[in-house]
Amino acid sequence: MEIGFSTVGIVGAGAMGRGIAQIAAEAGCQVIVFDQQPEQVSAATEQIRAQWHRQVAKGRRSAQDAHTLFERIHDAVAMEDLAACDIVVEAIVENLAIKRQLMAQLGKLCPAAVLATNTSSLSVTAIASGQDRESHIVGFHFFNPVPLMKVVEVIPGLNTDPAVAPRLCALARAMGHTPVMALDTPGFIVNHAGRGFVTEALRIHGEQVADFATIDQILTDQAGFKLGPFELMDLTGLDVSHPVMESIYNQFYQEPRYRPSVTTAQRLTAGVLGRKTGAGFYRYTEGQIQRPEPVRPPNVAVCPPVWVSPKAARRADIYRLLKTLDAHIETAAAPSAQALILVAPLGLDVTTLAAVDQLDPGRTMGIDMLLDDQTTRRRVLATTPATRADIRDAAWALFSRDGKPVSVIRDSGGFVTQRVLAHMVNIAADMCQQGICTPTDLDTAVTLGLGYPNGPLHLGDAIGPGNLLEVLFNMQTVYGDPRYRPSPWLRRRGALGLSLLQEEL
Ligand code: NAI
Repeated sequence: MEIGFSTVGIVGAGAMGRGIAQIAAEAGCQVIVFDQQPEQVSAATEQIRAQWHRQVAKGRRSAQDAHTLFERIHDAVAMEDLAACDIVVEAIVENLAIKRQLMAQLGKLCPAAVLATNTSSLSVTAIASGQDRESHIVGFHFFNPVPLMKVVEVIPGLNTDPAVAPRLCALARAMGHTPVMALDTPGFIVNHAGRGFVTEALRIHGEQVADFATIDQILTDQAGFKLGPFELMDLTGLDVSHPVMESIYNQFYQEPRYRPSVTTAQRLTAGVLGRKTGAGFYRYTEGQIQRPEPVRPPNVAVCPPVWVSPKAARRADIYRLLKTLDAHIETAAAPSAQALILVAPLGLDVTTLAAVDQLDPGRTMGIDMLLDDQTTRRRVLATTPATRADIRDAAWALFSRDGKPVSVIRDSGGFVTQRVLAHMVNIAADMCQQGICTPTDLDTAVTLGLGYPNGPLHLGDAIGPGNLLEVLFNMQTVYGDPRYRPSPWLRRRGALGLSLLQEEL
């Protein structure tokens, strides 16, 4: 494979610099590592060599191969040792003034080199602007841990020479990584696209719709996420994730879609950071997460007959499901006086639907049918403020009859999964509208960078852009909040029934 670079300099031998040095050597480059703290350099090169030793011990690499790699890694004692590099990647402290100063020094030292920055939150253009080597400064954003996270964002600044990015993409491929091209905008691709998941979950919790653990269970079991948003925040730590939420929100001039939450601000102030402090949204005992015991469905001897609203989403699927659950189904135009009334709105709240359709709110329950029941591992029901306890328990028991877990939540515009998925896809759609990246790169970056089961646009295709638009339009009505306004990009595709992954001419 054509690498295009022979000698890679690394400045900053911390968590990221070490990983980048390792994969650069594995790609066949000579690597020179520098850090302002010399002990960091030796610690880094030792750690990398130990990693290759382990691979030899496990039979994943030959001793000869490891020896070749050892020979490619060199400690720099002074920054001048980087003079022979044809690319230098900086992974120093995340501070604009310090990174600019470093780029100015490197520009003088390595007048022909590409100068790449691994910044995660600063503007590449701001780092490059006015520098002698401005046209050769570029973003090269890896994820932690670098050898395992197989994606890297390539971010040209406003004045970067267009020939630079393709060279970086070739280097990334030689490193075994997938490069994705991003416009120099706050959060680039992955940290921007990741906004919807956590902020909407916080909003749902803030509205008392469900507790943390229930929201996590719904999103893992219904939508297939590996970790729920609250467990994820506990893992990352609020000292990292809350400032990122604030920074992206403010860098986009208070765009409502990215609005952070007072919940995380307050918890950060209190030092309730997550796993690292032993307490976050969950408690941790000896590093083990303490989850609440699952709530058993109530015992209900006789279930009332069930009447399904003609407007329900996936009505035929609901009937099929009710038959499987051995329910007594009413098929008259209106419900009987005993019936459990079932509605399945998209985006709209159960209560408004009951009021508009003149259904008895005391006997009305909602079920989330955005996703095909057969593809999910949990069902979600919602009460209205007037739903009777016996009706809630009957619905809960009925939908648990086949052993599938059921969560009962309070009513809001959209259920948990509808809200989070619609918000996430809408943000992804708007990133395409802004030309931040191509639809394909967006899905690739998010799948590899965030470990989501699918990219948001792929997910949007599976759900149907029209269904997502209905969720968003209705949520906008319920909340009157511009954060739910559908992106024009999603509207156009929804109107034409087009794939979200299709690229425009
Ligand atoms: P770190 O704190 O582990 O390592 C930074 C290293 O840079 C330290 O060894 C420090 O001595 C050295 N350093 C600081 N200023 C220097 C200077 N002026 N000249 C030479 N060396 C200097 O930091 P980490 O986590 O590796 O992050 C580095 C960069 O990568 C930051 O820009 C960060 O935003 C970015 N990044 C971090 C990710 C992460 O998960 N840790 C993920 C993606 C990007």
